[in-house]
Amino acid sequence: MVTQQKALVESGRANDLGYKTFRLGGYEFERNAYFTIIRYPGGEYHIPVGEFMRAVQRDIGWNFFYGMVKFDEVFGTFNFYEKGVDMFLGKYNDAWQKSGKHYSEMFPNEKISATFKAILEDWVPPDFNPWAAPRETGSPFGRKRGGPHPAIFRKRIVTTTMIKTQRTDETHPVNEAFQDLRGKDGEMKIKPEYAERFGLLNLYEYLARNDVTWNPEIVSAVEYSLFCPTTEEYILPITHGNDRVEWFLLLNGQISMEVRDRDTGILLAYLHMKPGDCTAMPADISHNLWAPERSMLLVWENGNPQLPELIRLGKTPTAPLEEFGLK
Ligand code: PHB
Ligand code: FE
Repeated sequence: MVTQQKALVESGRANDLGYKTFRLGGYEFERNAYFTIIRYPGGEYHIPVGEFMRAVQRDIGWNFFYGMVKFDEVFGTFNFYEKGVDMFLGKYNDAWQKSGKHYSEMFPNEKISATFKAILEDWVPPDFNPWAAPRETGSPFGRKRGGPHPAIFRKRIVTTTMIKTQRTDETHPVNEAFQDLRGKDGEMKIKPEYAERFGLLNLYEYLARNDVTWNPEIVSAVEYSLFCPTTEEYILPITHGNDRVEWFLLLNGQISMEVRDRDTGILLAYLHMKPGDCTAMPADISHNLWAPERSMLLVWENGNPQLPELIRLGKTPTAPLEEFGLK
């Protein structure tokens, strides 16, 4: 293994298909034509490589998000913020827990980020965009044929002015799926001296131009109340086990949701959301989402960094209704 000083990344020589192998603590990651092979002190585990790369892309894109990000029912990461990021295999899966096969290791955020980014740079083919819906992109499979797709370097745009002016026909054309669903701006009359301070944003119009799927982006922040709308199509590449209460409001399209116990992965419920449906989720579940057509979802998060600790101490409710003093 050669240690690349630049990015805290340990990588080996390319295999017969042209892909490098990466090591992170007791884990080793290798890809072949179809699968990611994760070796760990207890054995090896395989994940289809397209699903793996889509999940890695979200995990680093969101800086490991709130709480648990499961790539499938077995492997994933748990964000403990300043304490680091736990990478686990089977730790939150009933069968693996019972058989004592589970494994986990905590890493500093920077080390796991650097390794995941290096994996994407080496493994993502030039014609496979991990942010895109399957109909919009090429295949993740096969031997190395150049790459990576430039979308892996996508950065969130930090707004310096009204976000409305940052998505235009030139930079963000309306997605094909939203051609017939266009928002219409309301009317606003502003005194010229206030033009910089007020704006009217049609959220449908804004989201119709989103160039990625399954990527909640903050469009408004009022103290810790964060509105994070997103556009969805096909399957959320990860299963999210939140460390706090979370809300969804479906704006259009359709979303089916699979709800599991967060810590064992045992299935609890299925729901099918229609436009206008709102789900309020307790802090002890995980959810995966399916969207049969491109859909707009408003994710509402409470960004208070003290919440996981307050929940651990029993000082704050873990069910949405209790949060508002209702039962
Ligand atoms: C979630 O886990 O809450 C989540 C993640 C990505 C999305 C939507 C919801 O696009
Ligand atoms: Fe979630």
